[in-house]
Amino acid sequence: MTIIQNRILAIAMITLATYVLPPVIKPNDIPQNLNSTSTKTISLTAESQETNTSPTINDMRFYAGDGEFILNGKPFIIKAAELHYPRIPREYWEHRIQMCKSLGMNTICLYVFWNAHEPEPDRFDFNGQNDLSEFINLCKKNDMYVILRPGPYVCAEWEMGGLPWWLLKKKEIRLRESDPYFLERVDRFQKAVAEEVAGLTIEDGGPIIMAQVENEYGSYGTDKNYVGQIRDMIRKNFGDRLTLFQCDWASNFMNNGLDDLIWTINFGTGANIDKQFAKLKEARPESPLMCSEFWSGWFDKWGGKHETRSADKMIAGITEMLDKNISFSLYMTHGGTNWGHWAGANSPGFAPDVTSYDYDAPINEHGAATPKYHALRKALAKYASGKPATMPKAIPTGKISKFSFTDVAPLFPNLPSPKTDVEIKTMEDYNQGFGSILYRTKLPATSTSTTLTVNDPHDFAQIFIDGMYIGKLDRRLGEKSIQIPPVKAGSQLDILVEAMGRINFGRAIKDFKGITDSVTLSENRDGHIFVCTLRNWEVFNLEDNMEFYDSMEFMPLGAFSPGEDGRLPMGVYRATFTVSKPADTFLNFASWGKGLAYVNGKPLGRFWEIGPQQTLYLPGCWLKKGDNEIVVFDIIGPREATTEGFDSPVLDQLQSVTPPLHRKNSEKLNLSMESPVASGSFIPGNGWQQLNFAQPSTGRYIGIEMLNSIHGDDLAAISELYFIDEKGERISRESWKIRYADSEDVESGNHAADKLYDLQESTYWSTASGAKYPHYIVIDLGSEKRISGMQYLPRMEAETPGAIKDFRIYVKSSDFNYSK
Ligand code: GLA
Repeated sequence: MTIIQNRILAIAMITLATYVLPPVIKPNDIPQNLNSTSTKTISLTAESQETNTSPTINDMRFYAGDGEFILNGKPFIIKAAELHYPRIPREYWEHRIQMCKSLGMNTICLYVFWNAHEPEPDRFDFNGQNDLSEFINLCKKNDMYVILRPGPYVCAEWEMGGLPWWLLKKKEIRLRESDPYFLERVDRFQKAVAEEVAGLTIEDGGPIIMAQVENEYGSYGTDKNYVGQIRDMIRKNFGDRLTLFQCDWASNFMNNGLDDLIWTINFGTGANIDKQFAKLKEARPESPLMCSEFWSGWFDKWGGKHETRSADKMIAGITEMLDKNISFSLYMTHGGTNWGHWAGANSPGFAPDVTSYDYDAPINEHGAATPKYHALRKALAKYASGKPATMPKAIPTGKISKFSFTDVAPLFPNLPSPKTDVEIKTMEDYNQGFGSILYRTKLPATSTSTTLTVNDPHDFAQIFIDGMYIGKLDRRLGEKSIQIPPVKAGSQLDILVEAMGRINFGRAIKDFKGITDSVTLSENRDGHIFVCTLRNWEVFNLEDNMEFYDSMEFMPLGAFSPGEDGRLPMGVYRATFTVSKPADTFLNFASWGKGLAYVNGKPLGRFWEIGPQQTLYLPGCWLKKGDNEIVVFDIIGPREATTEGFDSPVLDQLQSVTPPLHRKNSEKLNLSMESPVASGSFIPGNGWQQLNFAQPSTGRYIGIEMLNSIHGDDLAAISELYFIDEKGERISRESWKIRYADSEDVESGNHAADKLYDLQESTYWSTASGAKYPHYIVIDLGSEKRISGMQYLPRMEAETPGAIKDFRIYVKSSDFNYSK
């Protein structure tokens, strides 16, 4: 057995010896035909824009100089606040920009969400919430520079990472690759954005100092050709004087780094900053340094513990960067809200994101300053001359007294007219992007209980036979099959599938909704399994929009009482409520099931009783004095059809009181009968380490026994873990499940064991305090695999808390034994 304890990517460094530094673009390189005589610098203040001395093109430039960024002829440290305009009510845009300015930032960094701007091919929308040029002009008005991140892919916990769902109408499309159709569509979108921001780049006197090419491509693949195509498209559309950059992780930025782009690194609070930039400094000693996403907090997923990050660590990171002249963008400075259906989902392990994008950011979801904000403002003041800009007036919050819904339109009697199809098709095949879809067919007669298998339900399926609820299949939990009782020939099977957000991260972004392949019924007759594929479907497309809800027939709610399950019918609920003084409020959905809510036609987003989010943010600017209308589509049915407005949000209440641990109560892994296939010791320090097995092993269940830690304490932690196949390639983690973890810290933070394969290097599995070595993890790979090694990433902090030392690996085809 050999242990290669080098950092994996150090291999890539060998190539650096021959690496040629890209030419730094300097003002002198600007095309000759542009006048370049004066060296006067300009500032973006309204007054200077109005002076008669017209600055020359050389002044109005932003570029990477030797070790520093140069703006208008002077060194410039970017202190950027990440904000996403579609996540903030337009009425509050300026308030949020001013909050960022007052915090001590000088730049706003923003994504452009392609799918929000092009809801249908060639129908571009830059109005209302999508008015990009208005938002940028507001930045300019408030003396804030802008970094534009036009994708096409953005990630951002936004539906499909910003890509429009209609791309999936071409089943074979290769997303984020050199697929001709994909590239053609990207080009049209980039052209539309470029037209929208025309005149707003720094060279034209606007605030946009630079633009990003693609987004963290390293966590998707290695394809410099494609990234180069996106770069060329941005140059073609936005002009070739705009400075361009790429962002990636320290572990993979070299994979797709293009010679003529600035390279920046993304990492979160607590990370070892010197280590993060070490490789970049070696590769490009003269490059200015920037953390283009310094994560202030984190996002929440349905059914997961609410995420928070320490303010002290965030501030320590920012001050360390500023002391070292490192630019940064604080992602998120203000997260806002995933209105309507815009929340995305993460993967591996389908993990749909909640509606709030509060992110535990310094400015909270509704735009108020948090203690994190005040502490950061104080810290940033030390790096600025003069007093911080005054904070804008806080937007008031208020309560709305409890009110009851009056009308309901139950779903089943209100279905739209169906389409018919022999085989199952996805939502996209019916030109439907969002909402729910009902598949209906007739069942053959069965004499025993049978297994109904849905391949695959995307994302939350409910099964009914002759109108009776049988059960649900929740994609988050990997549920695909359900037992159904014997039925008469011709019984009606209904499968109601609700789509949640499309996956926004990793290869799984090609995320079709509805049922993706087939539905089968299998019966065990005398030990023989008979499988029949169900066909001949009636399909009802239930779009999530007001038009569909308005088409329904409403009845007085008084005519209904809760069923045996304590729930009122699933369907659309309506009420009118009175507001005397509109103010921001948080509607309580704790007594509701799962669905979407709208007030005065504005989509507030998804709610789900499982939590952790229990209230939906309702901005005061969307309320009227007097009567307001609320519409709620609940696909499970409420326990009580009432709501009320709180004056603060509830974002941290999981319905289940038991933390989601990967271990049944007193279960203990028993390895007494097993022998390890490999063992070894990790070395101290940050970065990836690799163990190669002496011989490949085949199996489905992998047990990792951790014997002790580098620091001699009891903590064990893993940021990311991969197994590698015989070719040295990483084995896909799409179907992984954690079968067992001896201990998980879900108290002090969200460090459950599934964090070790969530594709996020900044999140991690950690044992709880007090739990002693040896520690154990068992991973179910989903199917048998041939494994020839393992890659391990310890935590990113300089001290690598929980760094593991000695360990043993066990591989088995069937599950391990567990004792009570
Ligand atoms: C990455 C992406 C962002 C966002 C963050 C996590 O850095 O670039 O869009 O998804 O992760 O919040």
